[in-house]
Amino acid sequence: MGQGRLAGEVVFVTGAAQGIGRAIAAVAAREGASVGLLDIDEEGGRATVAELAVDGVNAAFVRTDITDEAQVASAVSGLAGQLGAASVLVNNAGRNSYADPVAMTVKEWDDVFAVDLKGAWLMARAVLPAMIERRQGSIVNIASVHSKLTTQGMFPYAACKSGLVGMTRSLALDMAPHGIRVNAVSPGYVRTRLVDEYFALKDDPSVEQKVLDVHPLGRIGTPEEVAEVVCFLASSAASYVTGSEWNVDGGFGARFA
Ligand SMILES: NC(=O)c1ccc[n+]([C@@H]2O[C@H](COP(=O)([O-])OP(=O)(O)OC[C@H]3O[C@@H](n4cnc5c(N)ncnc54)[C@H](O)[C@@H]3O)[C@@H](O)[C@H]2O)c1
Repeated sequence: MGQGRLAGEVVFVTGAAQGIGRAIAAVAAREGASVGLLDIDEEGGRATVAELAVDGVNAAFVRTDITDEAQVASAVSGLAGQLGAASVLVNNAGRNSYADPVAMTVKEWDDVFAVDLKGAWLMARAVLPAMIERRQGSIVNIASVHSKLTTQGMFPYAACKSGLVGMTRSLALDMAPHGIRVNAVSPGYVRTRLVDEYFALKDDPSVEQKVLDVHPLGRIGTPEEVAEVVCFLASSAASYVTGSEWNVDGGFGARFA
């Protein structure tokens, strides 16, 4: 390691046990970063670190529920002790929601927002003091095409992801005087557990083909294609980009009909 776009950086990634987060950790490592992984999935997190270690990557995992203030604080300081303070944070952990707006309970609402929005703030709050002290840092929040467009039956996922993009803008403005950039990446359909779960819920064998048909590029994206954009935005190659939201959606969000 030691060479690449993220050489010398310490990148913390939430939700890194699988899917897009795991790909972000792998691409960041390939680009020369040390990587700190956080996830509630202990087995997946440890397996990812073991895979990275085979390639000689400096990687560590801490089982963390990002909705828990104390766990976040302890994981961030534990990983900083092993790898150094985070110079990059990728807030990737997230979950879908398929609630009915009338039947949904307040607890269910709070649980969704805790993962998809509050957790990103808790993580940012934990890493920012060291970034502010060094006058350098970058945060990338993984939002979604749902920040601008949405679909029936996924209440209130779109509200969480719109909120995350709003928080990206607020943090970008408040942190700019400290030399810290904050951006969002909004994936469209990406082949992971979340998308498989969505297709399974639809109970319609043609749903996947219908999704493919509305994609200008004619296919669903890969986690690596999202990870490449995240790592570019995180790196100094994107030094003049802050407060922005980048779509990685195969052109899906540009389409009217
Ligand atoms: N897959 C897609 O098509 C798609 C599209 C748009 C946006 N996204 C967003 O990308 C991100 C990653 O999604 P994915 O498809 O890789 O999902 P995934 O389910 O494969 O991975 C999500 C990871 O987050 C972890 N996680 C969930 N709750 C957590 C918590 N409280 N604390 C710590 N970790 C937690 C899970 O254990 C899992 O490893 C999410 O924010 C999702 O909303 C995904």
